[in-house]
Amino acid sequence: MLQIEENVSLKNFNTFGIEAKARYFVEINHEEDLAELFMDPQWQQIERLVLGGGSNMLLVNDFNGLVIRLNIRGIEHRINHDNVFIEAGAGEVWNELVNYCVDHNFAGMENLSLIPGSVGASPIQNIGAYGVELKDVFESCRAFEIATGQIKTFSNPDCRFGYRESVFKSDLKGQYIITSVKFRLSLTPKLNLSYGAIEQELANRGITQPTIKEVSQVVAAIRVSKLPDPSTIGNSGSFFKNPVISQLQFADIQKQYPQIAHYPAGENQIKLAAGWLIEQCGWKGKVVGHTGTWKNQALVLVNHGDATGKEIYNLSSQIIDSVYTKFGVALEREVNIID
Ligand code: EPU
Repeated sequence: MLQIEENVSLKNFNTFGIEAKARYFVEINHEEDLAELFMDPQWQQIERLVLGGGSNMLLVNDFNGLVIRLNIRGIEHRINHDNVFIEAGAGEVWNELVNYCVDHNFAGMENLSLIPGSVGASPIQNIGAYGVELKDVFESCRAFEIATGQIKTFSNPDCRFGYRESVFKSDLKGQYIITSVKFRLSLTPKLNLSYGAIEQELANRGITQPTIKEVSQVVAAIRVSKLPDPSTIGNSGSFFKNPVISQLQFADIQKQYPQIAHYPAGENQIKLAAGWLIEQCGWKGKVVGHTGTWKNQALVLVNHGDATGKEIYNLSSQIIDSVYTKFGVALEREVNIID
């Protein structure tokens, strides 16, 4: 029997550590629980928020609807020649899955070490770090269709992955709940070390032929050095996406700012480092009331204790305005704003 609780604090369910209340709250431990939940039509009509690790959202107000906390567990793997297929429940902690793979010497996820959040949330924004994206290891996922109560399987192309994008964030937003994800890894490592800081850190450690575990450890060390630990300082990782602009606009900006950090991003497109733009506007490490940007990475907004969601949101608006005024580039929030 499902337990629906009322007026539940979400403080421990969001990595920003924002105090906000859910009008209704339910924990889902099995795929079948979803069918049971939605047999009651009132939950079809009410506003819903599906919660995994709560690591990519900002609660601006109390949530006057139903929070569905996914806690479906389980990790299984099957080896077929060189391929390893791993299926994990949506409620598994992402980094625990990465550790499972690293410990078994299954290659492909090591660059995604220490990303906060849950397995079920990982396809929604196509998480990525250090030159690897979820889509590089994603095989398929199972998802519950709220309107019909059916389970549907989505293949990699079905998900229409892009930079921090998928069909679950766009056309199908709010229509499906991901219940498990299947990954395809390999027994033969093809290490991706091209991301500058990895090679440098390996060299610092005198490692010339790294194992999967060593890559994972190096990635984790780089992350720890740059990003605040949400268990001590509330944050949601990168608050904004790195903006993609035209080559033409880039040429204009580069004339004025020859040092500008940038990467190629497809035909006639350039991706800028939002952290660099924000730092240039003087925000890096700045404390504003109970909020601010992180001292080692201006792209990360932090809760210095007791910040409200509104304060953090307001700071993000000020940052967007100042980057636009200085560079003519519109930053987009990467974090889901729950208003
Ligand atoms: N930079 C600055 N100042 C800053 C921050 C960055 O000048 O305050 C410059 C850096 O010097 C570097 C460039 O910006 O030249 C890129 O910085 P970094 O390598 O830290 O990565 P990022 O582009 O800021 C992205 C992801 C991160 C991911 C890292 C590593 C997005 C929005 N963010 O950050 O993902 O960990 O690359 O791959 O794409 C997340 O999504 O929550 C996240 C943390």
